Amino acid sequence: MRSIIDIMDLSVEEIDGLLATAEDIIENPKKYADACRGKKLATLFFEPSTRTRLSFEAAMYELGGNVIGFSDASSSSSSKGESVSDTARVISCYADIIAMRHHKEGAPYVASTKASIPVINAGDGGHNHPTQTLADLLTIKREKGRFNNLTIGFCGDLKFGRTVHSLISAMSRYENVKFVMISPDELTIPDYVKQNVLIPNSIEYKEVKSLEEAMPELDILYMTRVQKERFFNEADYIRLKDTYILTPERLQSAKDDLCIMHPLPRVNEISVAVDDDKRACYFKQVLNGKYMRMALILKLLEVEI
Ligand code: NCD
Repeated sequence: MRSIIDIMDLSVEEIDGLLATAEDIIENPKKYADACRGKKLATLFFEPSTRTRLSFEAAMYELGGNVIGFSDASSSSSSKGESVSDTARVISCYADIIAMRHHKEGAPYVASTKASIPVINAGDGGHNHPTQTLADLLTIKREKGRFNNLTIGFCGDLKFGRTVHSLISAMSRYENVKFVMISPDELTIPDYVKQNVLIPNSIEYKEVKSLEEAMPELDILYMTRVQKERFFNEADYIRLKDTYILTPERLQSAKDDLCIMHPLPRVNEISVAVDDDKRACYFKQVLNGKYMRMALILKLLEVEI
């Protein structure tokens, strides 16, 4: 029984295996239509979500399985004071696998220590979001055809953006990957990401404020939303929320084969006028996420096809 709390819980070889399974699912969906017949996924979402929860649900249904769960902490027993540990033990009696999102960093890890079934972290506070990273990796593979030799710009809220933290970890294992961190001073990447990932792996990175200046050198531009729910102060959020807005004009200096990514939801940071640009990949990312979650569920449930 194995849980996925951090993207680094998966080796590079295992990620390659998941990518291969996802691509096989894309080619041969019928082969997988009954793979999880009789199995149940529990989605325990203590924090709002559209994509991630529905993506997990769609993934399980497309594998022929069933889904139980809640999408609002106020409708669960946590509103009565139940601990995450107890919830995890209880759900272990009903389901075969758990996908959990929680506003507290580390909550899915705690759940995994008490559950008797695999737990997948579907986002914990401002910390990690490994299954979004799996979606991102399949998108990079399909759009760029490689993980090595890439310059990746992360733009927006790099402090609270958990998708950024997980993707930096994942990409730090490939050769000659450079990061350009584009953010206002208040939203730079946390020190622990530098200390635990960038410095020990001798990764080349720079921190800049101007998206325009960074644009020409980027192979991938990963835009993010300013994480309103993690701000202590509304005035700071309002001041920072529209720092970066990607428009067709700002893309004029970008490479022709730039891959524009965003974990979504988008608020203002990418103008809808960019959606028709052939470099916009953020809706493909959503679909890729479903296939990677299918691959991950199969792996953790040890289903052989
Ligand atoms: C992200 C998240 O929840 O961290 N959304 C998602 O799962 N695709 C990004 C965000 O909320 O900004």
